[in-house]
Amino acid sequence: MSPVLSDRIEVHDLHFYYGHTCALKAVSLNVPERQVTAFIGPSGCGKSTLLRCFNRMNDEIPGARVSSGSIHIGGVNIQQPSVDVAKLRREVGMVFQKSNPFPRSIFDNVAFGLQLHRISNRSMLNQAVEEALISAALWDEVKDRLHESALALSGGQQQRLCIARSLAVKPSIILMDEPCSALDPIAAAKVEDLIRTLRQQITFIIVTHNMQQAARVSDLTAFFHLGELIEFSPTLKLFSNPAHKLTEAYLRGTFG
Ligand SMILES: Nc1ncnc2c1ncn2[C@@H]1O[C@H](COP(=O)(O)OP(=O)(O)O)[C@@H](O)[C@H]1O
Ligand SMILES: [Mg+2]
Repeated sequence: MSPVLSDRIEVHDLHFYYGHTCALKAVSLNVPERQVTAFIGPSGCGKSTLLRCFNRMNDEIPGARVSSGSIHIGGVNIQQPSVDVAKLRREVGMVFQKSNPFPRSIFDNVAFGLQLHRISNRSMLNQAVEEALISAALWDEVKDRLHESALALSGGQQQRLCIARSLAVKPSIILMDEPCSALDPIAAAKVEDLIRTLRQQITFIIVTHNMQQAARVSDLTAFFHLGELIEFSPTLKLFSNPAHKLTEAYLRGTFG
């Protein structure tokens, strides 16, 4: 595996199972680098499963497996046993629906990933934490209380803290699984602003149930239904002129 992954994601004919349940069926798509791609579709259609394939998070789920097909990131087949999963997860960060800060200080939450990756020089650590908090648009709100508990932050601040934590290790891709669904509209708007600011440097894939959010923030949108990719198009095209009846029905709110 090459030391530096680029970040184009190529999925070819992917089939994924939990035990005997097929969660992804013949999914093929190429996610371009440094753009924002939204995954939409009704609950249970496989969005989170596919997202977790991209940093091998499904490895942690007993009985879960890719049964056939391939995923390449930057030309590297990430399913090969020789892939260094810790390194992959450093390149491909993840932000969850429910922000999950550790019950530690704000500083420690951001420094955590860096210490894991052996950056322990104090001034380098301070600088990296500051940079990540600035990038996550949180620095001004927390710079005077870096050593207070992260759990004292608001929900929106905690979510930006989790984004700062993933930014700190300089990932090339960030996967976001419904990152705003527990946030109020103002906090959600801050996360969207953040994505817009960082999209020149980082490839984002965002799972969202909020159609307006997908339309506002993404360049490309993939619509899934029952484990299949139904349509993958530029967001403007998919929302204004969907190619598939199922996409249109979903956008109209007929199901889902
Ligand atoms: N840990 C798991 N164990 C067993 N089945 C799962 C697990 N996670 C998801 N599934 C099943 O896989 C399918 C896809 O789920 P998921 O990827 O979570 O969909 P989405 O994120 O679109 O709601 C669903 O049928 C779901 O019940
Ligand atoms: Mg999900």
